[in-house]
Amino acid sequence: MKDAFGREIRYLRVSVTDRCNLRCRYCMPAAGVPDKGHGNILSFERIAEIVAAATELGVSKVRLTGGEPLVRRGIVDLVRTLAAPGTLRDLAMTTNGTLLADLARPLKDAGLMRLNISLDSLDPDTYRAVTRGGDLALAKRGLRAALDCGFPVKLNAVLQRGVNEREIPDLVDLTRDLPVELRFIELMPMNGDCAGDAFLPGSAVLDAVPALRPLEGDGKARRFALPGAAGTVGLIEPASRPFCAACDRLRLTADGKLKPCLLDSREIPLEGLHGDELTAALRDAILAKPAAHGALSFTGQSPAGRPMNRIGG
Ligand code: 5AD
Ligand code: SF4
Repeated sequence: MKDAFGREIRYLRVSVTDRCNLRCRYCMPAAGVPDKGHGNILSFERIAEIVAAATELGVSKVRLTGGEPLVRRGIVDLVRTLAAPGTLRDLAMTTNGTLLADLARPLKDAGLMRLNISLDSLDPDTYRAVTRGGDLALAKRGLRAALDCGFPVKLNAVLQRGVNEREIPDLVDLTRDLPVELRFIELMPMNGDCAGDAFLPGSAVLDAVPALRPLEGDGKARRFALPGAAGTVGLIEPASRPFCAACDRLRLTADGKLKPCLLDSREIPLEGLHGDELTAALRDAILAKPAAHGALSFTGQSPAGRPMNRIGG
């Protein structure tokens, strides 16, 4: 189905939990996730019902996000349930990868098609600082398992001035041998603990690695590659180059609200809605998508209305 601006909405991002085993500085406040509301997390049956209704309206791609989706018990069963009807062209997951070593194979067997893995740094100390305690070795093991299982993999690195800025060439070097798309993402103000002075524009990647050659973009990311490399490099630049005109997505929060736009506080509750009423709410959310998000400012409240872990990355 098309939104009010003629954009075909094909993509539903489903947050399955707002809990996480890490505490990335840009994603959540230091105190972590308040326990309140965990009782209201959508059941797998309910997620499957909402995905089925969205499919009827033309959604063909689903991404499972969190928090960290792999901390939700039974996540492999959810993947199997969503893959079973065969109606999804794409079924992907965004994860920090730290629990993937054991789960990559079961996820693949259950029908998951692609993985995005967060990897902001290749330095164990920097990784620990960014994730507030995470173990880089676990994320690397997860990445290895994902590749060994044959998953197409994207790596997400949030650009942070003075944090992973000097590692940009090392991160890009990963693409020489690994068949991954490494995506540098501009920091967004999401009520984490990142101040605006940590913002680094996507163009910093091109300054740091002049050898990158442009490829065709995909509407959201500018794409590049090193000559002869196995992988590619993408730039996601919500601040410098907003890609709202190509936005084809809707978000479902773990507590059952539709978010027409990541960077807008508007939410549409689905509680108690089934059948035609559920479909009508999905239509309302699609038609409520704004043409574009406003300017991204790090002063004051995030436009998103809730921190990233409570939306889904
Ligand atoms: N800015 C940019 N990207 C973010 N993510 C989470 N918080 C932010 C933020 N403030 C993205 C990261 C992470 C994924 C789960 O969400 O890419 O890998
Ligand atoms: Fe967890 Fe991902 Fe948020 Fe980091 S960015 S705290 S890994 S949900």
